[in-house]
Amino acid sequence: MTAGANSTVSLELDDIQAAVLYPRPSPYVGTLIFSRVDDRRDGREVLRRLIPALITAAPSSQDPKREAWAAVALTFQGLKALGVPVDSLASFPREFQQGMAARAADVGDTSENAPEHWEQPLGSPDVHLAIYALAPDAKRLEAVLAAARDALRDVPGVAPIWHQDTYMLPNERTSFGFKDGISHPAIECSGIPGTNPHEEPFKAGEFVLGYPNENGDVPAMPEVLGRNGTYAVFRKLQTRVAAFRQYVRAHSKDAVEEQLLAAKFVGRWPSGAPLVLAPERDDPELGADPRRNNAFLFTASDDARGLKCPLGSHARRTNPRDSKIIGVARMHRIIRRSSSYGPMLPEGVLEDDGADRGILFVCLQADLGRGFEFVKTQWIDEGTFFGTPDEMDPLVGPQDGSGWFTVPQQPIRRRLTALPRFVVNRGGEYCFMPGLRALRWIADLLT
Ligand code: HEM
Repeated sequence: MTAGANSTVSLELDDIQAAVLYPRPSPYVGTLIFSRVDDRRDGREVLRRLIPALITAAPSSQDPKREAWAAVALTFQGLKALGVPVDSLASFPREFQQGMAARAADVGDTSENAPEHWEQPLGSPDVHLAIYALAPDAKRLEAVLAAARDALRDVPGVAPIWHQDTYMLPNERTSFGFKDGISHPAIECSGIPGTNPHEEPFKAGEFVLGYPNENGDVPAMPEVLGRNGTYAVFRKLQTRVAAFRQYVRAHSKDAVEEQLLAAKFVGRWPSGAPLVLAPERDDPELGADPRRNNAFLFTASDDARGLKCPLGSHARRTNPRDSKIIGVARMHRIIRRSSSYGPMLPEGVLEDDGADRGILFVCLQADLGRGFEFVKTQWIDEGTFFGTPDEMDPLVGPQDGSGWFTVPQQPIRRRLTALPRFVVNRGGEYCFMPGLRALRWIADLLT
């Protein structure tokens, strides 16, 4: 298949898992279960049982928004454990074959974020099969998970070894207090609208294997299993909410400045209102309006210099949109399916209560190197792309206490220094989320 500017591509929606194309529901509850496959035949039996319960991206009159789904993904070790032939294994890209833990030094997972500090068994060769389920409420989640539990029942060769429950915090916010899950790209020919009317739909090949990408190429894909699959990155990111609140308070003269400074870190106000559209103060109506809260570009909104939304803020780094940067932003777009875990730190509390809270970060892309690994290393861990090499993402970057964050303002910019680390990586995995045909192919392997 070749791509031209006017080419139309038909996506095989009935083979693509719903989680790949549909935004996560809001509100939501979710669970991620990792299992180890000790016996390949039992592993295939679990897949055989799971497949009929999987929801695809094909339109459905019963659940038009595809709000409740369980998705299945496998690590490279998992594909091996299931007996996928060596030719197919060898055709997977290097990043995936190595896995997230082995890639730690390449993606900046060092010091506190290094695999030796990860929650076990994350990053170990034991993690094989991922089942990630999300639904608008506990009842529907239970219904989706029941199929997963049935699939795992009385199969001694497959052992669930880790799980994480997630749920939406009040006001759709993350533990830092900011609304999340707003920005979602439109994907050409999916029929599912994106959230930014000013952003051209992305070529499906940026997110799903087997289709042309933004370069107009159909990238090489793993033998047999590739088509309609995608790579899923799972990371348990713990948030140091008290440290964030303390830092922002210590660098603000009053509560108004405190809220503005925190918004400058994120690129949005707590309500979700983007700084470029509401530069002075939060606008809860704008934040709550899905037709407007992501309807913007940066340069086209007269914010090329970042006077409204700092170039180094979290959301602007991770999606620079039309900002003038080194490189092409559209080649590094990722889809997020993150969800929050752990209790809220009550509003106004500045002391750490010791609770484990944060984000189960999940992102999807057709190329791990160009998606997650690029965003993490080039856009989060440094700032060369916008002319400030030594500056990290102030919210999620691996700061060691000596970092800084520039807030452009007039007459002179403000520079915040001695940034501590607000997010710690507790571990994660690179997984492949196959299309349904590919899952069936694995389930039906004979040897
Ligand atoms: C605990 C860690 C994190 C927190 C609390 C967090 C929080 C947020 C928030 C509040 C938003 C704005 C809401 C939205 O636009 O949907 C956002 C956007 C985003 N984040 Fe994060 N994030 C975290 C980690 C990450 C990481 C590790 C990455 C990438 C490797 C990432 C990539 C993105 C992207 C791509 C967007 C969308 C930006 C846009 O399209 O405007 N985030 N995040």
